[in-house]
Amino acid sequence: MITTLGDLDRRLRQKELDEKLATMGRKYFVTSGKGGVGKTTVAANLALAKAALGKRTGLLDVDFHGPNVTSALFAEGRIGANDGGLMVPLEVRPNLHVLSPQSLLSDPDGALLWKGPRKLRAISQFVTETAWPELDCFFVDSPPGTGDEALAVARLMPECLAILVTTGHASSLMDARKTASFLKATRLGLRGVVDNMGTLVCPSCGETMEIFPPDGPRALAESLGVPLLARLPWDAAALKLSDALRKPLLEAAPASPVARALADLADILD
Ligand SMILES: Nc1ncnc2c1ncn2[C@@H]1O[C@H](COP(=O)(O)OP(=O)(O)O)[C@@H](O)[C@H]1O
Ligand SMILES: [Mg+2]
Repeated sequence: MITTLGDLDRRLRQKELDEKLATMGRKYFVTSGKGGVGKTTVAANLALAKAALGKRTGLLDVDFHGPNVTSALFAEGRIGANDGGLMVPLEVRPNLHVLSPQSLLSDPDGALLWKGPRKLRAISQFVTETAWPELDCFFVDSPPGTGDEALAVARLMPECLAILVTTGHASSLMDARKTASFLKATRLGLRGVVDNMGTLVCPSCGETMEIFPPDGPRALAESLGVPLLARLPWDAAALKLSDALRKPLLEAAPASPVARALADLADILD
């Protein structure tokens, strides 16, 4: 029952959001317990792979304090507005539409000093006040953990399926379990676990060696009742090539072990 004008306003905004989300296809929320474990790498390259497969793909960066999606894609340019005043995501490749707070900043080294409610409002605007075209899939790259951004995604986009990225190190696994508890508490679905940096591809001989024990991410996935979706090796040669060519991993080194594992991961997600 609607009791106040505030109530009515909230319901209208929710309706607008739901209508927009209905045009944005399958949604994935790339998350982790810890920073630096590869979320942005996974989100950006998955989006790239899906777009290359002909899927109309959106990629939204909600990591306000470390927005790295555009640097992972080497995408430049500022977000503009259309005649209706809606933000227009950057079309960085055919079929790939990207919106990151980084592309809203006039100073690339500028920082956003936003608190929770401002972030919730911004994420809502990134969906409803943005000219996303009709999409087949939509990836949300997030900061680590269970803070404001994750809460906002859970509240605004409850149909998102999470992809939980972790390394095999005990501290990353411990924090990943906290994120899994958060997903359960907020009723976000969990599509599976991605084990990143568990093995090292030697840049000189190409041999693969274990960095972390392989059983941790697998045991985590099993205990959560979800698949271990991928094991991505730490691939220093591919990263070096990516930086040198200023192209994302998938394009700079498509035959590299990490790019092949990322492409396989894109194939198993619908
Ligand atoms: N499997 C990998 N092989 C090589 N470099 C990687 C791999 N995964 C991540 N990186 C690099 O590690 C750094 C941290 O990854 P990033 O995706 O930014 O982590 P997060 O988004 O979780 O903070 C980045 O410089 C990224 O390019
Ligand atoms: Mg990141």
